[in-house]
Amino acid sequence: MIARVSTVAFVGVKPCQVEVQVRILPGLPAFTIVGLADKAVVESRERIRSALNAIGLSCPSKRVTINLAPADLPKEGTHYDLPIALALMVSMGVIPQDALDGFIVLGELALDGSISRVAGALPAAIDANARNSGLICPADCGPEAAWADPNMSILAPRNLVALVNHFSGTQVLSRPLMSPMRVERSLLDLRDVKGQESAKHALEVAAAGGHNLLMIGPPGSGKSMLAMRLLSILPPLSPPEMLEVSMIHSLAGHLDQQCLSDRRPFRSPHHSSSMGALIGGGHRGRPGEVSLAHLGVLFLDELPEFPIHVLDSLRQPLENGEVAIARVNHRIVYPARVQLVAAMNPCRCGMSGMPGHVCMRGSRCVTEYVSRLSGPFLDRIDLQIVVPAMSASDLLLPAPEEGSAEVALRVASARKRQIERFTALGLETVRVNALCPGNVLEEVASVDSEGQDFLRAAFDKLYLSARAYHRVLKVARTLADLEGEPVVLKSHLAEALHYRRLLSPCGSGI
Ligand SMILES: Nc1ncnc2c1ncn2[C@@H]1O[C@H](COP(=O)(O)OP(=O)(O)OP(=O)(O)O)[C@@H](O)[C@H]1O
Ligand SMILES: [Mg+2]
Ligand SMILES: [Zn+2]
Repeated sequence: MIARVSTVAFVGVKPCQVEVQVRILPGLPAFTIVGLADKAVVESRERIRSALNAIGLSCPSKRVTINLAPADLPKEGTHYDLPIALALMVSMGVIPQDALDGFIVLGELALDGSISRVAGALPAAIDANARNSGLICPADCGPEAAWADPNMSILAPRNLVALVNHFSGTQVLSRPLMSPMRVERSLLDLRDVKGQESAKHALEVAAAGGHNLLMIGPPGSGKSMLAMRLLSILPPLSPPEMLEVSMIHSLAGHLDQQCLSDRRPFRSPHHSSSMGALIGGGHRGRPGEVSLAHLGVLFLDELPEFPIHVLDSLRQPLENGEVAIARVNHRIVYPARVQLVAAMNPCRCGMSGMPGHVCMRGSRCVTEYVSRLSGPFLDRIDLQIVVPAMSASDLLLPAPEEGSAEVALRVASARKRQIERFTALGLETVRVNALCPGNVLEEVASVDSEGQDFLRAAFDKLYLSARAYHRVLKVARTLADLEGEPVVLKSHLAEALHYRRLLSPCGSGI
């Protein structure tokens, strides 16, 4: 008889169904796992042998063959321990086969038979629910899996004995409780930032339209401070978005105490991060920072310090919202729809453009520093702003009256206008102007005749790219939305153009 237990292999965030087949045949004792299993899966043999031993069962002294079907799909990770052990127990007659039919199983075994947590329980549960199956997962993953559907059947045992007792009816396992929503610590407030009114306005525009933002300024002017306050003015994630974000964090094993949160992710990788850490991949093809920031903010502080090839690898995800990682014999795609916020000094010494300052290395101080960024990368940043140094009298001012709560209200109403407009056009997946497809842009951002003349003259003079043309229109649309204006006016276009092309990698600086 062949025992069969269903489990999953993760290809990106998409779980693919895998069947564990076990056959015990007479012959010399052997324990063979086939089906493109990686080292962690092959090593499961020793964990399973010991775990079975711990509950008083011994692995049959026969020829045990385990096949992970389909055989051409690579199997990585430790979550195959439990399905393999259960399939083995079925073929040994400890658990009836029909008890496991209709369940997707994942979990890692410890040597004493306890079941340890694994990454990816949430996407596996959502996939199982879509197939009308139940889920068997480690006790520590139960609260996270319970988010998939309040009615689906979930068994989350602590150890193998608890599962055997459940199936024999001795002690029935109860369904795990859904983990509570994470209560956020209070977010940093914009009220802490004194002065910098135009930078705050640009931050509001970025939040309202989902635009990428680059802040350039001398050290200590408040760039990092502003970036860290963006989250406090962005709207919370909607319930489907929350599941989408949590699935990626679950796969990366990062789901904080398995609690889901409606706060947008904010990731700020250090400039020494490798390409694998930022984009994803590495040994197990795990999601990188750009995917962990999906539907949230990716903050790159000290931008020119990032290696140029690492920054250029962000060009694809910034354009199409996903990142494709090539593996030895397959390709993984992770979602990566991020809002990029970057900060940098204007030059190597950091002081170029400050009143009375002359860089020791002359114009090379700026050009050499800025040339570390490529033109196509900068072309993807809609809002490029200068954050000037603060004067003592600015800092002595009382705290501003307006804080994050007031700005968040304006951002929310501008976003509401955008959602209504895109929904009316049948574009349910587009929520912000920054993601508006080029073919509907002219319809969405209709410009008055004065604005059209202005746009024509500006583009002839500045030689902007087609992408820049579309991006200027999108920013102008957001500016109009913030003012509740149905048509894009010349003033919006002028402001949107003003935010572009501050930097050029081949010479001109600030
Ligand atoms: N506008 C401001 N209002 C109040 N405090 C400020 C302001 N700007 C800077 N500061 C103070 O200066 C500190 C440094 O600011 P921040 O780290 O944001 O500077 P930065 O522009 O990122 O500098 P660097 O280029 O060196 O990274 C802040 O922690 C804060 O105490
Ligand atoms: Mg900083
Ligand atoms: Zn300088």
